[in-house]
Amino acid sequence: MNFKSLINVGLIATTLLGVGCTSSANNRGYSKDAEINTKVEMLLSKMTLEEKVGQMNQYNGFYDATGPAPSDGDAKNKYEHLRNGWVGSMLNVRGAKEVRAMQKMAVEESRLGIPMIFGLDVIHGHKTLAPIPLGESASWDLEAIKKSAQVAATEAAAEGINWTFAPMVDISRDARWGRVMEGAGEDTYLGSKIGVARIQGFQGDDLSANNTIAACAKHFAGYGFAEAGRDYNTVDVGTSTLYNVIFPPFQAALDADVKTVMNSFNILNGVPATGNKWLQRDLLKGKWGFNGFVISDWGSCMEMMAHGFAADLKEAAELAANAGSDMDMESYAYVKHLSTLVKEGKVNEADIDDAVRRILTVKYELGLFDDPYKYCDEQREQELIYHEDHKAAVLDMALKSVVLLKNDKQVLPLDKSQKKIAVIGALADDKTSPLGSWRVASDDNTAVSVLEGLKNHNIKYTYAKGADVSVGDVGFQIPVTINNTDKSEFAEAIALARKSEVVVMVLGEHGYQSGEGRSRTNIGLPGVQQELLEEVYKVNQNIVLVLMNGRPLALPWADAHIPAILETWQLGTESGNAIAKTLFGDNNPSGKLPMTFPRNVAQCPIYYNHYNTGRPTGGNGVFWSHYIDESNDPLYPFGFGLSYTSFEYSNLKAKVDGDVVKVSITVKNTGKVAGQEVAQLYIHDKAASVARPIKELKGFEKFELAPNDSKLVEFELTSKELGFYNNEGEFVVEAGDFDIMVGTDSQNVSITSVTL
Ligand code: GLC
Repeated sequence: MNFKSLINVGLIATTLLGVGCTSSANNRGYSKDAEINTKVEMLLSKMTLEEKVGQMNQYNGFYDATGPAPSDGDAKNKYEHLRNGWVGSMLNVRGAKEVRAMQKMAVEESRLGIPMIFGLDVIHGHKTLAPIPLGESASWDLEAIKKSAQVAATEAAAEGINWTFAPMVDISRDARWGRVMEGAGEDTYLGSKIGVARIQGFQGDDLSANNTIAACAKHFAGYGFAEAGRDYNTVDVGTSTLYNVIFPPFQAALDADVKTVMNSFNILNGVPATGNKWLQRDLLKGKWGFNGFVISDWGSCMEMMAHGFAADLKEAAELAANAGSDMDMESYAYVKHLSTLVKEGKVNEADIDDAVRRILTVKYELGLFDDPYKYCDEQREQELIYHEDHKAAVLDMALKSVVLLKNDKQVLPLDKSQKKIAVIGALADDKTSPLGSWRVASDDNTAVSVLEGLKNHNIKYTYAKGADVSVGDVGFQIPVTINNTDKSEFAEAIALARKSEVVVMVLGEHGYQSGEGRSRTNIGLPGVQQELLEEVYKVNQNIVLVLMNGRPLALPWADAHIPAILETWQLGTESGNAIAKTLFGDNNPSGKLPMTFPRNVAQCPIYYNHYNTGRPTGGNGVFWSHYIDESNDPLYPFGFGLSYTSFEYSNLKAKVDGDVVKVSITVKNTGKVAGQEVAQLYIHDKAASVARPIKELKGFEKFELAPNDSKLVEFELTSKELGFYNNEGEFVVEAGDFDIMVGTDSQNVSITSVTL
């Protein structure tokens, strides 16, 4: 079969619509294990309506951990509800001892003794933290990312957790949005691959093992497209963006057998996701055949009242249940109203049974019915938390996540014998910000700071803070107050810089300046840090800027003046060691940006895989798509990242071979040190029934090369990569010309073309 025969919308649509679809649920149940399906049916047949509704109810273990606590509700009676079997799950219960205590009430005191499933936001580690997900994504190293998730699952399971609310697979193109730190950036192909790697790391090959946990693809759907990058804001996107950008990572998650999906706070084209029947029942569970269960986001069921979609909590419960939201997180809507709604005929008990089947199936697959306390072993907890092997794994992840943005005159790596090294910036001495904002289970002050990392590597330096980043109290729920005025320690820092050979400036965002509820309108260096950088530059231009941040930053002045810039994100527990190893050459940075860095926040949303527009370039004066006061170009493009060595690409070839396009290119290490490179493959379908982006990532390979070594890098493009969803939601591959590009980032590419 070749493309000619394949290129028939109907055939492709039929053939490929399976793309991203799991096998649809067999009508005997949702597990591949028939025995589990039988057990689920037997248990379901014994349950009262109230007990079924109880399985669909999730309570928080303590308040304010990840959202505002309800002012009223039955939470204060949650222990009684546990005994009644009215609580199917809890979140934010931590520690083997506490989980055992809660589980004991549910299992030994309720009529049917159905175990609860315990969820937690294990986003990039549990106690031992890896880099924030956006940082991990910069590694483009799927095996390392999978390993990182395995470590997270091992520690979480040791603390009684059997379900994580991760990976977040929301694509986002807007650095103003605080939650870009939690995802894999702007690209659908990369985001899909990384989401799958994380799910495989969390769930492993045996969900019933005591070091694997159920994963959760979130937030379904469109949350990353919140207008103006303002968290929880309206999402209004077209069909092509939905089907070609937003949905594919969720379809890939389903293909990876993700056990749960979390819906999103946002309204999607006028309908809140939690009450969106088309999204959850028709598409996710129907067309795509999702076999797991859908959990609401925190209070998102209740919030349908604020959206103006439900008149009251009872109607919210009705809309959510009928739309396919299987479990209610912290709205108390189901536990209060669902039984009545069934009795009133407003919700079918068959739909309740379906939700309960899905939930019980995951609990059986986790092994919770065999041993409800299997995750509650305090001995294991002590042995595994902060284990040295875990620190080694997150250090490896961190080393692979650092991105070298600039290195004029080979300022980096620094020479360990240099005598007068100044280190300036409060973040250099910060042991908490490098942990990021999503560290529900971890402990403050457990990151290796930059200063500690330098000491660990016997580097002599002199430190001056220069300026605080934040002032006053900070915390999970507390907005960060940034120091915008206090420059009282500038003088000491400037004096130190004046007498130093090289100045390492560690600047960026406080750990709580990105993450949920932390959108920014200004994505420059917060507070007085930019001024500090410019003042130091006046007395010493030999500066290495180490960035510590949870989102792309707009730093045109730094790019224009500072000779060396390292992007270190928030690298987690081993942050300082990874930064020290990179600064002094024990680690050759190999990261590539998973998200575009703007010149100016006003360019947001800015992304590489944009459409061409009808007036892409100048030529007729001002009448083309541009700004009169800023370039269209990013500061640093998607896929960008330098190395301490250099790579040369040559001999790009592409040809149609049957029903694939074969692509090859030679990459050579032309520098003096070994290094890792990420060769990136992009395509452009030049004329299609729905306009296609000027380029789309459709393959990548990360590899190591010694100096003067070369590698023939080969890719195969199948229909899955060459096709797209049209505005009828059908997957098609169309005849015509395709540009094929391969290179070291999304701009620096070699180009050829093929015709299908
Ligand atoms: C939060 C987040 C969600 C998280 C949930 C539970 O508000 O939106 O990602 O998993 O609540 O903490």
